[in-house]
Amino acid sequence: MSDTIIRHVVVPGTFDPVTLGHLDVIARTRRMFSQVTIGVAASLTKNGSGPHFSLEERTQMLRESIVELRIDKGVEIRPFSGLLMDLCRTIGADGVVKGLRAMTDFEYELQQADLNYRLAPEVESIFVMGSPRHGYISSSIVRELALMGGDVSFLVPACVKRRLDTLNEA
Ligand code: COA
Repeated sequence: MSDTIIRHVVVPGTFDPVTLGHLDVIARTRRMFSQVTIGVAASLTKNGSGPHFSLEERTQMLRESIVELRIDKGVEIRPFSGLLMDLCRTIGADGVVKGLRAMTDFEYELQQADLNYRLAPEVESIFVMGSPRHGYISSSIVRELALMGGDVSFLVPACVKRRLDTLNEA
């Protein structure tokens, strides 16, 4: 076991698009660790056809969101393809932080944490409970609601809402 104090962690995800739930996890992670890298996964195989938004769009929405919510200090954004553990090693991060919203998340995260441990035992998997303020948000719920003309302003920051509004104009 490494005796290094954890200072730099990655908050990974597909962020398709980023939600207030993700941003809550990022803000709380920054309170605990001095250096936070948001790892934006290419996730090309997700849902069969890949994410809805391109990697560039997802990264840009994150950039604007952390500035809008004023949580950009000590937070970097890094798109990546390939293994999360390879990203951690490349940037020298010693932990990965993920949010847990429900028991179903726990089962899935346990599997991912187990695999990641086998790939890089020196990288700690850390979990924070999703805030009850945000409930069970998911990116696909946000996209579906936006496509049906529903108001998503309680689920995403204003910059993401503006981008989602353009989906209906297209
Ligand atoms: N608040 C709101 N929503 C959240 C959330 C939170 N705190 N945490 C997760 N979600 C939602 C997401 O919005 C998404 O919803 P959707 O499926 O409706 O779009 C869903 O939960 C899954 O999140 P996602 O961002 O796709 O993350 P993931 O938990 O599936 O993991 C990676 C993504 C990038 C961390 C993972 O795929 C990975 O490590 N990829 C790299 C490849 C690799 O290393 N693989 C081997 C390791 S297992």
